[in-house]
Amino acid sequence: MKVLVTGGAGFIGANFVQQTVRERAGAHVTVLDALTYAGDRGSLAPVAERVELVEGSITDAALVDRLVSESDVVVHFAAESHNDNSLDDPSPFVQTNLVGTFTLLEAVRKHGTRFHHISTDEVYGDLELDDPAKFTPETPYNPSSPYSSTKAGSDLLVRAWVRSFGVPATISNCSNNYGPYQHIEKFIPRQITNLIDGVRPRLYGAGLNVRDWIHVEDHNAAVWAIIDKGQIGETYLIGADGEKNNLDVVRTLLELFGRDADDFDHVADRPGHDMRYAIDATRLRDELGWSPRYTRFHDGLAATIDWYRANEAWWRPAKAAVEAKYARTGQ
Ligand code: NAD
Ligand code: DAU
Repeated sequence: MKVLVTGGAGFIGANFVQQTVRERAGAHVTVLDALTYAGDRGSLAPVAERVELVEGSITDAALVDRLVSESDVVVHFAAESHNDNSLDDPSPFVQTNLVGTFTLLEAVRKHGTRFHHISTDEVYGDLELDDPAKFTPETPYNPSSPYSSTKAGSDLLVRAWVRSFGVPATISNCSNNYGPYQHIEKFIPRQITNLIDGVRPRLYGAGLNVRDWIHVEDHNAAVWAIIDKGQIGETYLIGADGEKNNLDVVRTLLELFGRDADDFDHVADRPGHDMRYAIDATRLRDELGWSPRYTRFHDGLAATIDWYRANEAWWRPAKAAVEAKYARTGQ
């Protein structure tokens, strides 16, 4: 099977490529990645000899057409992915998330290629802290940020291309991932690398916002379950019942580093900050038989800390610039 992975040099995509090469002997993987600030060849180093990396943009129609014509399945991870960056400059989010997804859809339409679109639970907006509800595939779209609105738009493009043109596509909307190779602009790796440097973690606002954490390997196992057994045209929500507020996550990290429970700072809140995300993954569990392997968040975090300690050369070059950018917004 020839698999084209867009965004395969980013966090989730690189883990997907590594898992695919490890677990699927018959798969031939090509990665299309623009190697933006979030993409890193080094994230594919362990499998470099078994993967073809094409440096280019998903908005390049001629390149996308050629690569899609040579593929059996396209797994579309490429995106601008960070909410804080989308508040600073939404423009690349519109280009990559909307125009890039459109460009891929036109190519898979022309070649009749199986397409799986990776999306986020943020398309549903947020929930109140005391709401017993979780997101389901029927929850109305209500995105809050430039990031989540461009992801919502990309999902709607996929749905329209399925219905209007019969494109053989599926969509998955996943909750917050953690694990190795996550960019240090994101919450968990930012705090881990701060703690390695002896710097106090930074909590936006009161820290009561809830995220539904899932290990990246569990996300990617679900993606393969959908590609193998999912129904064309369906949306699957991916989540592992991992709701935690940000304060609890910081306190767990402090405990794992042997630091005092109050050894962190509150900083400026994110404008429009979503309060809570929570996924109901019943369809994925019941129809496709998926279940998460990482059920103990504490252990998953400890392993993630070990990875960042052992791979300082991977993240260190970006650290000063990431922190300088946060300093400009008081975060
Ligand atoms: P990331 O920012 O770590 O990686 C994105 C990758 O896409 C990078 O390698 C980057 O170079 C590449 N890219 C960006 N613009 C491109 C373009 N125009 N052409 C080709 N490549 C381009 O992101 P991530 O956290 O790995 O997220 C991957 C996907 O998963 C995204 O679609 C995101 O919306 C979705 N998602 C992420 C999470 C999460 O918690 N991180 C959760 C649910 C869904
Ligand atoms: O829900 C899925 C989404 O999860 C994905 O679609 C996004 O691509 C991914 O980035 C993530 O979005 P969040 O905005 O939830 O993730 P982030 O890591 O930026 O922040 C997680 C929470 O931590 C959020 O409530 C903001 C807070 N935060 C973040 C940073 C960087 C802090 O308190 N301090 C920080 O330093």
